[in-house]
Amino acid sequence: MTLLQGLIVKVGLTFLLGALVLALFLYMTAGRNKKIGGALYAGFIATLLLLALLQFITSGLVGAVPKVVQDSIAFVAYLGLCFVLLKAMDVLLVEAYLIGRKGLYIPQVLRVLIMATGLTVSVLILLRAVLGVNVLALIALPTVATAVVGFALRDTIARFVSGIMLGRLIHVGDWVTIMGKEGVVTNISLGHVTIRTRADDYVLLPNNLITQNELQNHSRPTHPQASTVVTEASYAHPPLWVRKILADAARAVPGVVAYPEPVSVVSAFKESGIEYQLKFWLDDFSRRDRIEGEVRSYVWYAFKRHGIEIPYPQRVVQMTQPPDAAAMHEHELAAICEQLRPIDFLSILNDEELTTLAQDIRRHLYLPGEIVVHQGDRGQNLFVVVDGEASVRVEAAGQSATVATLKPGQFFGEMSLLTGEPRSATVCAETELTVLMVGKDAMSRLLTKNPGLVEQFSTILVARKTALASSLEATTRMLTKAAVQKEETSLTASIRKFFGL
Ligand code: CMP
Repeated sequence: MTLLQGLIVKVGLTFLLGALVLALFLYMTAGRNKKIGGALYAGFIATLLLLALLQFITSGLVGAVPKVVQDSIAFVAYLGLCFVLLKAMDVLLVEAYLIGRKGLYIPQVLRVLIMATGLTVSVLILLRAVLGVNVLALIALPTVATAVVGFALRDTIARFVSGIMLGRLIHVGDWVTIMGKEGVVTNISLGHVTIRTRADDYVLLPNNLITQNELQNHSRPTHPQASTVVTEASYAHPPLWVRKILADAARAVPGVVAYPEPVSVVSAFKESGIEYQLKFWLDDFSRRDRIEGEVRSYVWYAFKRHGIEIPYPQRVVQMTQPPDAAAMHEHELAAICEQLRPIDFLSILNDEELTTLAQDIRRHLYLPGEIVVHQGDRGQNLFVVVDGEASVRVEAAGQSATVATLKPGQFFGEMSLLTGEPRSATVCAETELTVLMVGKDAMSRLLTKNPGLVEQFSTILVARKTALASSLEATTRMLTKAAVQKEETSLTASIRKFFGL
């Protein structure tokens, strides 16, 4: 056989063997949900090619290749082979067989550690066997690698180590309180502890956090777990006697163990009575809430039989009479009448008429700066100032002028109310301002009863209109006496018409 034929046979055998291994691998891992990953296939093909290259170089068909090149190619090719074998072992033996078929729990971190150890050992052996390197001299290298891996996986390693430690402290089925969560342990893995709470929620707690926090195991070391119910009894009953009744009541409850015996102590002297703590032990911690409820019920019946009173908090309560709405209304009416009486144009009304008017009047309070009526608005209310001051402002052509300041006893808004025209000015509260508001209906009744009032209003209206006109300089002449008379007569007529008098 020539050199070439020998090479072809060797390379052919290598690839055939590789193809067989690949086929076996694919067959074994067929149907897996998880992807094998490109790294394994890339490593596998690279290894085959490197092995073929190695055979080509060592076949003698090419010229002398330096030994260092040959050794390096051999080193990389064999290392690739080791990687493929280790990875195949991990996938087939650990993942497919031990985890998949046998259902064993093998944490990921353990598999990574096995792979890393296998590769390190392979490198050391190949360095010695292929390259003839003194591996002891390279002892620093794995140390650095371990440090890097350890740093990257520190959290996982911490959980792993904590998980091993936790296994001794808690067992599946124990009632625990961990990080404020109370429940029964349903699973302890190398990463997490799973507990089922009383609300049937599953809570996953990382192992490393558990070991750093408070852990309460209600099921260990002793089995019966203590529980406490707090109650109060009146100061009238002797504490020793009450304590015995409490202990006897707890003893009778199903689920409370006979030993240790229930005990009761006086825990505080409260405002309403003496506080007792009744401590008893349960053999089934999962039923704690129900048993505690039963103990409370038994205590209630026992207290009832013995005439012991469970005191309520005591308070001195002062009853106040609800305000008398009718009396308040009367009082308000009288106050409004009192405030209307000094107003000049109402002085002609007798007490009864004033009271009738007051029925329809509302009192309003405005703060300084608030507008009571706006110039140009429609309005059907008249306002009487009873407290505070209001300014009367007129605006025209972008100019604003204050034409009057109204004080208690004076009124405004009569122009729109009496004539139906838009508000002739803006009235604004200058101080805290209290006004009595008279509506059109009330005014109508008033004018019907006292037609003489119309003339009085007309006079005031004309005077105010004159003041408005002169302040705005909308008119160049002051109204003459005759003109005022004429204006009053026409206003009187229009007021009468507006109110249908
Ligand atoms: P009315 O037009 O309904 O709304 C604005 C009110 O301002 C007006 O009625 C008058 O009551 C009042 N008013 C207008 N001019 C004067 C004035 N010169 N003096 C006093 N009050 C006035």
